[in-house]
Parts: sequence; structure tokens; C-alpha cells
Amino acid sequence: MTKEEILLAQSEHLFPCVFHYYQQPLVISHAKNRYIWDADGKQYLDFFGGIVTVSVGHCNDDVNRKVHAQMDRLQHVSTVFVNEPQAALAKKLAQITPGGKLTKSFFTSSGSEANETAILAARCYTGSTEIVALRYAYHGRSSLTMGLTGQSNWRERLLLSLSLWPLVSLLRGALRA
Ligand SMILES: Cc1ncc(COP(=O)(O)O)c(C=O)c1O
Repeated sequence: MTKEEILLAQSEHLFPCVFHYYQQPLVISHAKNRYIWDADGKQYLDFFGGIVTVSVGHCNDDVNRKVHAQMDRLQHVSTVFVNEPQAALAKKLAQITPGGKLTKSFFTSSGSEANETAILAARCYTGSTEIVALRYAYHGRSSLTMGLTGQSNWRERLLLSLSLWPLVSLLRGALRA
């Protein structure tokens, strides 16, 4: 696809919430370690570390080698079955997490799901349905996490399952007490 075809397909076929911040968005062609190249072949040093980023560099050789080996062995399996990589990683996390009490893991593939799981676990443990969220907080794009965000442009207005309790209310309450 040409750069123009990619931009057209993006604007016509992706949900409008998948937006970019630039009038002339960067169309990325490929990347290696700390460098990326755009569709015109221009090379950039990637300093972007804010949102939806990983910290091991692009197409990291060590990571790729492990991913390829796993893909060739077992790519996907239902959670009703047991597999070594998941059990081994959970065991390793239990060994290295501080305090010796975080011995159970639940694996997800996005931050939104991780936050959903954390909220659900907190609700199960405390029996409480109230969640305290900080003002300007962002927790993801699932319905629950969008109900919890303090940013109006990401706030889920239709399916609110939580009442937002901004930090300022918390502080006011603490000051009054
Ligand atoms: C602070 C924070 N929480 C949650 C998320 C949601 O993560 P994901 O996009 O992987 O669902 C993000 C994503 O940028 C984030 O920055």
C-alpha cells in the first residue's frame, strides 16, 4: 500500500477513537532497536516513551528469538488447558515479587484488562463496590475503566458502573474530619 492508501484506509475503516495528534501523521514502515523509519524512508531516533510503548526497543533480537521459538511450538491454547510457559512465568513472578505475598498471577494482554482484573480482585476481597480514582487518571478503554477515568474525553457516559470520586473530594473529606 502507498502512504496515501494507508492513511485513507485508516481514516475510513478504524474507529475514530484511534486518532493521532498530528495534521501530518507519521506512517511508520519498520523499526529496529531505538530507530524507526517512516513510509518515505526517513529514519528517526525513537524517544517516544509516554503511552502504549514497550521498553525493550523495537524488534529486539532476544525477544524475537523467544517469540519465534514459542510460536513454532505452541501458539494459542484455551485456558482450560495447562501449559508450561504460563505456569513457569507465574512461578518466577511469585519468586521475585517483593514481600513473598504476591504468589498468584492472572495474565492479560492489555492494560485495560489488567485494571479490570485489579478492580474485580479488589471488589471480591473487600466486598466494596466503591473505587477511588484520581483526577485526570486514565485506566484504559474498556467500559469499566472508561467509567473510572477522570478525563472527560475518555469518559464512558452511557454505561457508568462506578461513581468517580476525585482526589479533591477525598482531600476535602480528610480536611473536614
Ligand atoms: C496509565 C494507563 N492505564 C491503562 C492503560 C490502558 O492500557 P491498554 O491500552 O493496553 O488497554 C494505559 C494505556 O495507555 C495507560 O497509560
